[in-house]
Amino acid sequence: MERINKFGLIFLFMTVAGAAATAIADEFSQQDLTRWESEYLSVVKQGRQAFTDPELGSNGVTCAQCHPNAANTHPETYPKFQKQLGRVVPIWEMINWCIRNPLEGKSLEASDPRLVALQAYIYYERRGVKLDPGKH
Ligand code: HEC
Repeated sequence: MERINKFGLIFLFMTVAGAAATAIADEFSQQDLTRWESEYLSVVKQGRQAFTDPELGSNGVTCAQCHPNAANTHPETYPKFQKQLGRVVPIWEMINWCIRNPLEGKSLEASDPRLVALQAYIYYERRGVKLDPGKH
């Protein structure tokens, strides 16, 4: 009986602590929201530029030639198994696959601002599409 009470207390403590943490995390102003959105959209814009940049790879080919307006990029299906790579991958690994193959360029580091921007752009073009990870 005493054990149950102890667990009950711990549970209650965690619930209260969790609620407090959420309340703190939720504090932001309209000004913050406006700034965050404009930061995001500026990265989307950089992504659109990279997507149409003949200098991204080595042979002058651009992403947009095969994926106009990010067509057939299916970001909502990631992570998923990709046969080209033989395992379950996040979308940026597939972007690197296209950089290495059709664009004959070099893979970008995961944290490379161009790779982040390409993802921001691709996801922006597909906003509102229902998540469907693993789908083919
Ligand atoms: C010459 C045409 C071509 C170019 C240029 C190209 N791709 Fe692709 N892309 C493909 C093909 C082919 C696939 C493989 C489709 C598959 O098997 O899922 C693919 C797959 C993808 C996928 C995964 C799609 C899915 O359904 O899972 C993404 C994301 C992607 N490309 C992004 C890019 C980006 C970003 C660039 C520019 C760096 C680029 N591609 C350039 C032809 C191209």
